[in-house]
Amino acid sequence: MTGVSRRPPPPYDADPRLGELVVSRPELEAKVAELGRRITADYAERPPLLVGVLKGAFVFMSDLSRAIDLPVEFDFMAVASYGSTTRTSGVVRIVKDLELDLSGRHVLLVEDIVDSGLTLSYLRRNLLARQPASLAVCSLLVRDHYEDDDLGVAYVGFRIPADFVVGYGLDAAERYRNLPFVCRLRTEAPLAPAG
Ligand code: IMP
Ligand code: MG
Repeated sequence: MTGVSRRPPPPYDADPRLGELVVSRPELEAKVAELGRRITADYAERPPLLVGVLKGAFVFMSDLSRAIDLPVEFDFMAVASYGSTTRTSGVVRIVKDLELDLSGRHVLLVEDIVDSGLTLSYLRRNLLARQPASLAVCSLLVRDHYEDDDLGVAYVGFRIPADFVVGYGLDAAERYRNLPFVCRLRTEAPLAPAG
């Protein structure tokens, strides 16, 4: 991506809370198609069980799954941070657990963003304890301060800076998940009234 600042397209540019465009709709579409092709090739002999982390991953997972030309299956889980000590204590809580048994399955965990990495490290431990045949991770976004191999995320969409972003599943207080692009949130601007 260039150093030139880009704005969200109309009509979204009228919302003062939406900042610089980080990933455009065409960039998302091209990346989802590319990841789908890679996953289709890598999992040809062992169709994956896609495990989505709610809520953030649902938009990405929906598009990604349709870019995978294999008989995939789906399951979802929801996690929450435990109070304000989460970042230091590393405690993540399961709010909604999976419905399927992972034993012997080729699990592909689908995430919206790896930020601190806390959720991912918790989920990896939790899912591995259920004895899948394999476990790999696909994240739409990964913070760019991580070294490439630090996290063991096999499929990375985009590496982005530390700024808080919304859109394509990612929210700010439940808003903006349905934006068809990813952009920065201007936290200093007031939240536009809903409806
Ligand atoms: P973690 O810090 O890697 O555990 O990320 C936890 C969760 O925080 C992610 O799955 C997102 O739901 C949320 N999150 C982190 N950064 C952002 C952001 O920039 N925008 C919206 N949600 C975020
Ligand atoms: Mg999330």
